[in-house]
Amino acid sequence: DWTTGNVIEEQVALIREQVGDKRAICGLSGGVDSAVAAALVARAIGSQLTCVYVDHGLMRKGETEQVEKDFVAATGVKLVVVDAEERFLTALKGVSDPEEKRKIIGREFIRVFEQAQAEIIADEGPAVEFLVQGTLYPDVVESGGGTGTANIKSHHNVGGLPEDLEFQLIEPLRKLFKDEVRMVGQELGLPEEIVQRQPFPGPGLGIRIVGEVTKERLDLLRDADAIAREELTAAGLDREIWQCPVVLLADVRSVGVQGDGRTYGHPIVLRPVSSEDAMTADWSRLPYEVLAKISTRITNEVRDVNRVVLDVTSKPPGTIEWE
Ligand code: XMP
Repeated sequence: DWTTGNVIEEQVALIREQVGDKRAICGLSGGVDSAVAAALVARAIGSQLTCVYVDHGLMRKGETEQVEKDFVAATGVKLVVVDAEERFLTALKGVSDPEEKRKIIGREFIRVFEQAQAEIIADEGPAVEFLVQGTLYPDVVESGGGTGTANIKSHHNVGGLPEDLEFQLIEPLRKLFKDEVRMVGQELGLPEEIVQRQPFPGPGLGIRIVGEVTKERLDLLRDADAIAREELTAAGLDREIWQCPVVLLADVRSVGVQGDGRTYGHPIVLRPVSSEDAMTADWSRLPYEVLAKISTRITNEVRDVNRVVLDVTSKPPGTIEWE
């Protein structure tokens, strides 16, 4: 019988046998897959697992705290948080090209992660021989079903690791689909916000600012994004839409009239889409009242934003993200 309870029990036994008295490492991205994989492994081997979370400063409002506090509270996992915001912002300084941003973020991520990993390995304690990955069944199929060693498809995930690792992989979600992973996560007691999280790109808000990424712009986008998410959730639409990127057109200004007079601010783009697998997508026909509420709140509450626009492009031709 397929039950989440059985899956957990079976995996816990397997992982215990595989790891023995050695240690394992797991990178957390804030996403569902790595969180559930880590929670499952933590259930099996407790403090023999160390999780690493690289805070690149490109997360949405509250997401890092969610990992630091709520995830740790729910799992009791040993977590190393690396605050690398400065480093990422410095590396991204002056860069507007989307592909270049992705490359920089990916490269810095691997460097920071590897350094944290090296420090953990150098700790007193049993050898670190295992790396936990949140690979799902569709990923396995997509990459040809290989198993065992660290041949991880680099995909476009920031978590894509170099191929010269000498770890053995633990992939407890290899047989599961996304909805099953969410069920397992729920059964393991993970917070709703993590288990039901919509897709979010590895490079984070770095690719939702059209133009250079700066701390000020990130803070502004975080505020706008938080409002959109709040209102979509309040309207009960967060589960219905696939995801809703909120994009800051940092290099564009338009004239507005706010409060005492004329403003010259930036537009925010809402990009709500419906999709099955992100390969194709349609723009979501959100109720006007919800759009109106989001628009009013963003222009009232977010400094320097005087216009909210709706993206009504399907994919193709438009990708879901703007960069
Ligand atoms: P696009 O923009 O290509 O996005 O239509 C398809 C899906 O992939 C997500 N996405 C990414 N995910 N790293 C990721 O982990 C990335 O670099 C990346 N770029 C896009 C996007 O949010 C959507 O769900």
